[in-house]
Amino acid sequence: MGFRSKFENAEKALTFNDVLLLPGWTTLEPNEADVMTNITKNVKINIPLIASPMDTVTEAEMAIALAREGALGVLHRNCSTKEEVEMARRVKRAEAVIIRDVVTVSPDSTVEDLLKQMEEHNIKGFPVVDDESKLQGIVTWRDVRLAEHDLKIRDVMTEEVITGTEDTDLEQAMKILHDHRIEKLPIVDKDGRVQGLITMKDITLKGKFQEAVRDEEGRLLCAAATSPFDLPRAKALDKYVDVMVLDVSHFHNKNCFEATKEIIKNVEADVIVGNIGTYQAAEDIITQLDGVAGLRVGIGSGSICSTSVVTRAGAPTMYATSQVADAVKTYGADIPVIADGGMRNPGDVAVAMAVGASAAMMGNVFAGCSESPGRLVAMEGRYYKEYYGMGSAKAREKRFVMDRYSKPSKSINEGVEGWVPYRGPVKEILGEFTGGLKAAMGYVGASTIPEVWEKAKLALVTERGASEAAPHDIFRPGPSRTI
Ligand code: XMP
Repeated sequence: MGFRSKFENAEKALTFNDVLLLPGWTTLEPNEADVMTNITKNVKINIPLIASPMDTVTEAEMAIALAREGALGVLHRNCSTKEEVEMARRVKRAEAVIIRDVVTVSPDSTVEDLLKQMEEHNIKGFPVVDDESKLQGIVTWRDVRLAEHDLKIRDVMTEEVITGTEDTDLEQAMKILHDHRIEKLPIVDKDGRVQGLITMKDITLKGKFQEAVRDEEGRLLCAAATSPFDLPRAKALDKYVDVMVLDVSHFHNKNCFEATKEIIKNVEADVIVGNIGTYQAAEDIITQLDGVAGLRVGIGSGSICSTSVVTRAGAPTMYATSQVADAVKTYGADIPVIADGGMRNPGDVAVAMAVGASAAMMGNVFAGCSESPGRLVAMEGRYYKEYYGMGSAKAREKRFVMDRYSKPSKSINEGVEGWVPYRGPVKEILGEFTGGLKAAMGYVGASTIPEVWEKAKLALVTERGASEAAPHDIFRPGPSRTI
């Protein structure tokens, strides 16, 4: 191929602002649209939005809040394996009816040890067990808040413990908790060994979040990121996560493929791989990597990405999604496509779906919510939250994400640091996005996401057309809103 033809035949890597959804014949009202979707072969969520694995976006608090509302957050990996596993444990413990992974203490540990455990696990009460896991007592915040720090737990714990057995059902448990005015009911076997824990808080919460996404045992769904090159972390997380996201900036790479085979062989969770940006990458995954359950798609479109500036390489999310979705369709592969990066509005999410996405992953939008871990600051009369790319100098200081980017770029930043407007609780953002997405589906005439794939038609707009399509010729005081 001649050099000239490289630009004469160059791909049109269009992006969200280049297109509009054409209105189509519709028989439904927007509120009748169903936005439930598959994000992997086996995992469904009720709202097709996923928070990025970034350390200013998704830790346990965000993951819990999203799963309770029916969406999902992917825990970031810019921390030690122990810290990430602990976040996953917190998600799984958040609402389990019976907590199986009970954190216990020894009667010989001290009040000081207990206070540390309370902070580390964010738990206020612990069964006290001996070396054989046999229940000796129970100790709660109330027992230790004024106690001397060097006292032994056996001196402050309550020895008389009301317990249940594996046969205790939910109703009985509630009655016992209520009758005895207690908060926690350890479940023990016939030898008195602790097998689980039922708490009043979890029972009350369970009824509260009707749309929550849960696993077979009723615990919240949990997703977490890991490097394809970190098998020990993948194995450690596997006990707690339903979905594992192998998180690199350019997955279409021989070493990533080889390492992923090992991970897929060794974990039970559904494995999503990415990021990829082309038909060829998707085709190679489908034909060479058995067991991949989802594809994360888009390179360089993220609001904090400088990859395309630094390297001039990239595959804008809308273009990339259409490419990958076509490969999936051609091969009849049952692998959902997750569009990732560059989406700001519900309409962008709808466009991603028009070109084959099953769900949208966003960092910027969720970084602004109360539940994100980023710092909240006031500047010039407005609140902002910190948000930075995983390839930025700030993220790379922690060094756990160094292998997200290619070897030569380890000394170059591929992301920037900044602030996003504070948006309040994530529940409200989900409400706005779901409402907007359903309205878009109403215009398209689609009642489900697979119908959006089929029915949505796109129109190309020029830059001037795009400015006409946004509010114009009107004075609006204050900073413009994004949605
Ligand atoms: P938004 O637009 O929602 O995009 O902020 C979030 C996505 O951006 C990706 N990401 C990065 N890409 N350099 C990059 O090139 C970075 O430093 C970086 N950090 C995150 C990631 O895919 C995320 O989901």
